[in-house]
Amino acid sequence: MSQQLIFTNDVALQLDYLITQGDKKPTFVIADTNTAALVLPSLTSECKSLSDARLITINAGDTNKTLDSLAQVWKELSDNGATRSSLIINIGGGMVTDLGAFAASTFKRGVRFINVPTTLLGAVDASVGGKTGINFNGLKNEIGVFREAESVIISSCFFGTLPLDELKSGYAEMLKHGFLTSATEVNSLIERNIAEIGSELMLQLLERSVKVKQDIVEIDPTEKGLRRALNLGHTAGHAFESNAMASGQPIPHGFAVAHGLIIALILSHMRLGFETSWLYKTAHWVETNYPKLHFTCDDYPTLLDYMAHDKKNKRPDQISFTLLSAPGEIHCGQIVGHNDITAALDIYRDLMHI
Ligand SMILES: NC(=O)c1ccc[n+]([C@@H]2O[C@H](COP(=O)([O-])OP(=O)(O)OC[C@H]3O[C@@H](n4cnc5c(N)ncnc54)[C@H](O)[C@@H]3O)[C@@H](O)[C@H]2O)c1
Ligand SMILES: [Zn+2]
Repeated sequence: MSQQLIFTNDVALQLDYLITQGDKKPTFVIADTNTAALVLPSLTSECKSLSDARLITINAGDTNKTLDSLAQVWKELSDNGATRSSLIINIGGGMVTDLGAFAASTFKRGVRFINVPTTLLGAVDASVGGKTGINFNGLKNEIGVFREAESVIISSCFFGTLPLDELKSGYAEMLKHGFLTSATEVNSLIERNIAEIGSELMLQLLERSVKVKQDIVEIDPTEKGLRRALNLGHTAGHAFESNAMASGQPIPHGFAVAHGLIIALILSHMRLGFETSWLYKTAHWVETNYPKLHFTCDDYPTLLDYMAHDKKNKRPDQISFTLLSAPGEIHCGQIVGHNDITAALDIYRDLMHI
């Protein structure tokens, strides 16, 4: 395993150790305008070597995961004497770790980098697994490379300032990891109120959840096979996300994944005999914890069209889902026809009372 995962609520101590080890000078920190204001002050006050690093601040938000922001980072690295033995520390959500990791991977053909995710989605998903990149030409993550961080420091200590919606968004990816693992993991996630999970317990849940992704990525780093398991909930989820965006009412990615999971579980029941008790329990949990989606049968053609254009499909006329025969029993690359998807959308609307 090339990527070192460190789970801790003493981030300053770990950073100090990693920065001062060996010859990695000069050191740079990449943050966005929010994490520079909300996260960095206390970290730098506790970590002298971090306060000596040069800060590169990019504008916050996924709309800034662009070539312009990337060029700004490359320029600041170049102007300030970054070398091949420099160290880059990305401190932020998935936007910062995706862009910062891509900048580090390409500057002088590759500089070492550490990710310090500060959102739950970043900690449980984006910062781990080696996918780096930027949005380009109106397309998400169109340009990028696979390159793992030297270390990822995963902590729940940053989540105090995170809006509840951001927490819920990341938690849906944790539930996805739970379904890819076992009934016990699913139960341990859906029995909790997300807003009331304390920092220590969150760190333990994170450790179990990140391991699921790490184990899959180790077997299939470049998404040739098993890594597609991580797409559970995302075929319909991306369609819900795009539909919400197109109707001018965007929803956080994880909200779409939570609802997309329900579609995947319905199809899992229809195709693979997945037990309905799990489906009902999860639908109830999603209905309680996430805002309702608004669509009718008039939206089905648009939703099917989005699913047909999902980049994970091998062919556009074959919509591919990751499905389960039980929690932890994964079936990737299941081709589902339009009639079954339409039936699943009908069942979803009944279950979710829309
Ligand atoms: N590389 C991968 O495998 C992978 C996987 C999933 C998602 N992603 C990418 O990750 C991004 C989404 O990640 P995200 O949800 O973390 O988005 P984000 O990085 O845009 O963060 C969301 C918002 O929270 C703010 N923020 C960050 N930390 C905070 C904190 N501790 N307190 C308060 N505010 C804070 C950010 O400034 C931003 O405004 C997308 O670009 C997506 O494509 C990548
Ligand atoms: Zn996702």
